[in-house]
Amino acid sequence: MTDETKEAPEKETKDDAKTPPKVEVSEKKGFEPVIVGFLCNWCSYAGADLCGVSRYQYPTNIRVVRVMCSTRVDPFIILEMFIQGADGILVGGCHLGDCHYISGNYHTMNKMKLTKKLLEISGLDPERLRLEWISASEGEKFSQVITEFTETVRQLGPSPIRSTNPDIDLLEATFAAQNASTDFRLRALVGRERMLTEQGNVYNEKISEEKIAELYDKIIMDEFIRHRILQITKNRPLSVKDIAKIIGQSPKTVLTQIVTLKDRGLITLHRIDSKSPLFVNTKAETEVV
Ligand code: FES
Repeated sequence: MTDETKEAPEKETKDDAKTPPKVEVSEKKGFEPVIVGFLCNWCSYAGADLCGVSRYQYPTNIRVVRVMCSTRVDPFIILEMFIQGADGILVGGCHLGDCHYISGNYHTMNKMKLTKKLLEISGLDPERLRLEWISASEGEKFSQVITEFTETVRQLGPSPIRSTNPDIDLLEATFAAQNASTDFRLRALVGRERMLTEQGNVYNEKISEEKIAELYDKIIMDEFIRHRILQITKNRPLSVKDIAKIIGQSPKTVLTQIVTLKDRGLITLHRIDSKSPLFVNTKAETEVV
């Protein structure tokens, strides 16, 4: 990804700064959200520049990363930012129809939809991710969006996986969701969603948005469970019943996913213990006694 960081403009003096947008400010003290803003080079980043030169004020909580197009922002990277300590993430791009790469921001919409589902499944509030279209002439809108979003994240509080004492279950679930995001079927669906809903598949059959949403849900859940199973069988062999208990799924669901993982060579039968087969992550098989 081509990117570069951009410092937030220096604070203006009271006299020369324009009035900031009216946003209700939280009374909550002591928490300053860390917000990462991925801004497309051609519109939102230019909007941020205009915001600065026009002297509109906005909170300094945002760390800007410039990308050539908003669609370069991968779900994997967003989840990585959360894992690394972000409390909120803003993705800014050109308005629909204005993307300098024609249809880039349509793909961005699909990617953000997918990422929100991944956040939800991992237990992080999807409100921590925001997508906005901000053109190069919308400096004031940039100021308003950042101010509003900072306040939203402030109200949500610190990310539960951010601190030095993170919620380990949530963190593990976020890793699993991040790994799930790399599944080739999800990638293919995100890339083809617009074509499938507007033009149809190879048989000229249009796929409804509901059907696409169902497909997303199924693939995400399958991959998420598989990665959770691989995580918890890394250090010790476990039975289907134990795995089901730890990850909060039914033994039937776990068994179905174990069959797939076994077919892919990712999980191995370690031993039979009291008539119960114990499975272990194949990569860790030699290290587990
Ligand atoms: S170039 Fe701005 S969203 Fe694609």
